[in-house]
Amino acid sequence: MSSIASTTPIAQHSKVGDEGHAPKHVAVIMDGNGRWAQARGLPRIAGHKEGVEALRKTVDACKALAIEHLTVFSFSTENWRRPKAEVDALFALLKLFVKKDLNRLHKEGVRVRIFGSLDGLPADILKLIDECESKTAQNKVFNVNIAFNYGGRAEIVEAAQKIAADVQAGRLSPESIDESIMQQHMWSSDLPDVDLLIRTSGELRISNFLLWGIAYSELMFLDILWPDFGKVDMERAIDVFKNRNRRFGGVEPSKVIES
Ligand code: IPE
Ligand code: IPE
Ligand code: MG
Repeated sequence: MSSIASTTPIAQHSKVGDEGHAPKHVAVIMDGNGRWAQARGLPRIAGHKEGVEALRKTVDACKALAIEHLTVFSFSTENWRRPKAEVDALFALLKLFVKKDLNRLHKEGVRVRIFGSLDGLPADILKLIDECESKTAQNKVFNVNIAFNYGGRAEIVEAAQKIAADVQAGRLSPESIDESIMQQHMWSSDLPDVDLLIRTSGELRISNFLLWGIAYSELMFLDILWPDFGKVDMERAIDVFKNRNRRFGGVEPSKVIES
């Protein structure tokens, strides 16, 4: 039991009764691009393009608010079910974003990671992932993490496969598998737990995002379509977060009555 308590990742980042603090790690399910376009009589792809502008504004806002990590859901393992033209456009937009923004972000000291399943990704996207990682690996000002071809269940399955291989090879004993070992085998292994998860568009679901890392996140579902999201919305979300009372299964120290 003690290994569970001592390796619970949330303990490293937040504690009971730390209201008033800004989140270190904000994750966003950027949803509603299609509806934004539809409302204007435009093709869905126009919504995705506008969504990239919202991402730029959000990166700047989080950096200014001294948040350490922003993780965004850009393409899910389930989004392959969309029409090929839309999938192609989403891939093209990722490439364009990196081409246009990577140098500027690098100069600003931003570390950029793209993570998710590598299965089915074309060579140019694999190259892009490497380029972002290698160019910005030493940057410390802020972290932008792009979940691309990401699925929370697939991430856990792959971690289990890697751990099973380590056990089979004799590098790991089954008894030594704990939360920290699981964390180390995730695609998102070097990201802290998510403090605040925001989903735009009004949908009330997680859609297979960061299942492991959101165990104790504060959740916020906003009735804003992603292309309309901006600095003020992020500032408001952070203010609301600061007033949330996080307990992590414990009791606030001020409410403990000694008998
Ligand atoms: C989010 O917007 C972007 C991706 C999922 C890639 P959607 O494209 O899901 O927009 P809606 O939900 O259809 O409005
Ligand atoms: C989640 O949005 C995925 C991304 C934002 C990349 P979806 O629009 O794909 O989720 P569902 O289908 O509404 O659950
Ligand atoms: Mg959607």
